[in-house]
Amino acid sequence: MDFELKPLSGAQAAQWAVDAVLVLVPDSLVAADGTDALTELVREALRRGDLESGAGKCLSCYRPAGFKAGRVVLVRAGDGSSSSVRKAMAAGLGQLKVPGVKKLGVLLSLLERDAAVVRTAMTAAADATYSYVTTKPSAHARSLKQVVLGVKDLAASRQEFQMGQALVTGVELAKEWANRPANHATPSQLADAARKLGRQPRIKTEVLGPKEVAALGMGAFLAVARGSAEPLRFIVMQYQGGAKGSAPVVLVGKGITFDTGGISIKPAAEMDEMKFDMGGAASVLGTFAALAELQPAINVVGIIPSCENMPDGLAVKPGDVVTSMSGQTIEILNTDAEGRLILCDALTYAARFKPRCVVDIATLTGACVIALGAVRSGLFANREELADAFRVAGDRSLDLCWRMPLDDDYAEGLKSNFADMGNVAGRAGGAITAAKFLQKFVAETPWVHLDIAGTAWKSGAAKGSTGRPVPLLLQYLVDQAAVAENDKPIQKKRRVVAASRRA
Ligand code: BES
Ligand code: MN
Ligand code: ZN
Repeated sequence: MDFELKPLSGAQAAQWAVDAVLVLVPDSLVAADGTDALTELVREALRRGDLESGAGKCLSCYRPAGFKAGRVVLVRAGDGSSSSVRKAMAAGLGQLKVPGVKKLGVLLSLLERDAAVVRTAMTAAADATYSYVTTKPSAHARSLKQVVLGVKDLAASRQEFQMGQALVTGVELAKEWANRPANHATPSQLADAARKLGRQPRIKTEVLGPKEVAALGMGAFLAVARGSAEPLRFIVMQYQGGAKGSAPVVLVGKGITFDTGGISIKPAAEMDEMKFDMGGAASVLGTFAALAELQPAINVVGIIPSCENMPDGLAVKPGDVVTSMSGQTIEILNTDAEGRLILCDALTYAARFKPRCVVDIATLTGACVIALGAVRSGLFANREELADAFRVAGDRSLDLCWRMPLDDDYAEGLKSNFADMGNVAGRAGGAITAAKFLQKFVAETPWVHLDIAGTAWKSGAAKGSTGRPVPLLLQYLVDQAAVAENDKPIQKKRRVVAASRRA
């Protein structure tokens, strides 16, 4: 899908040569007295009460008088905030999902702050028209080919526009990989996707197989992969947008391409959804695709440990003790708590990049779904400033997260009589105890853990990947690139703060 920006006033909208015009009408719009076709249409609609207030309320018009476009949809955009615009776009596009609409004009310029919502309008348009076709030939591919955004000021909208384009690319790549069934998205196929990204500017990809992973001593990752005939892959991507030697942000994505639970096997109901258990990995791939497009001035490393979790004669058994790359031993009490086992070795590996921070992204616990549902991802952080930065990035990108605690008392249940730790700690506080397990492998490195079990995909009739948290990750990285511009004094200050905290 192509996007375009165009300076366009409400009065010019009637002359727009597109298949359909979607007009976002804010609450603040008082019946104007212009004589152009759009102003007259909106005035009449409001006067007669045919366009109710409330973000997302629509009035669909066919061949309205004076318009070049055959369809005009008026949609209420509430207070004009990003979240109202998202609602309005979803509702408006719902009216326009017809094969005849290939080129759509979206009139944003009636909104007071139209430049601020350009990105939201773009991502919402992409979301509303997304169609998965890879393994469903009978599905209708997206018929909307081009979206033109009418704004007041081109220059003011440009930055948001570029962000929007990169986001759509990133989110759609993440959705594509997460949606593919496990037999079409094996660890090797994920590695191929990463290699393909490695052909993009400033991206390098390296892929390790079972032998190399064994040589590195990743006993926990190897233990999970043992039960599957599909060979594991350990994917390392590097995006260099910042100065050489400037410390990278490392993203670590859980890449379980199918989670049966292993010997601690899951019940049959909804097990198919465990093809989405590589949602973290998909979000790392998507974020790298977006980085390639946006080229922000920051260094980023993406690490994806990927394998299947299967029951088998060779599979790891409850009670088995393995040695992680860190040297710490783990009693695997439940083979279904496999995400933390592949992540812990990836977190140890991440330290070699001397990161400014490590962010892991994982569909880690059913407990997080219970705690936060599908609205906010679970956010864990061992630094206040990181938690703040992610909260802000989440609010800005409408890809929300919520901070969860990391008190040491939550780690009590991980104690084992036979190893340095067990891999589970009972049902209570399951999202938090999983995070406490991971924390044992990051030591003092600034670290964020995102539990996306509730947000990475939707169940039911709308079953499918959401592409989350690509918007959150990209926003955080872009914000960090902006910080890095005037880096030196801030870095120094941070170090002083860190030192005083240690003292
Ligand atoms: N991939 C699952 C987590 C999950 C479950 C995500 C359901 C979304 C929906 C993970 O590997 C898992 O199985 N976790 C267990 C951990 C438990 C054994 C401590 C869980 O949450 O039940
Ligand atoms: Mn599991
Ligand atoms: Zn899992």
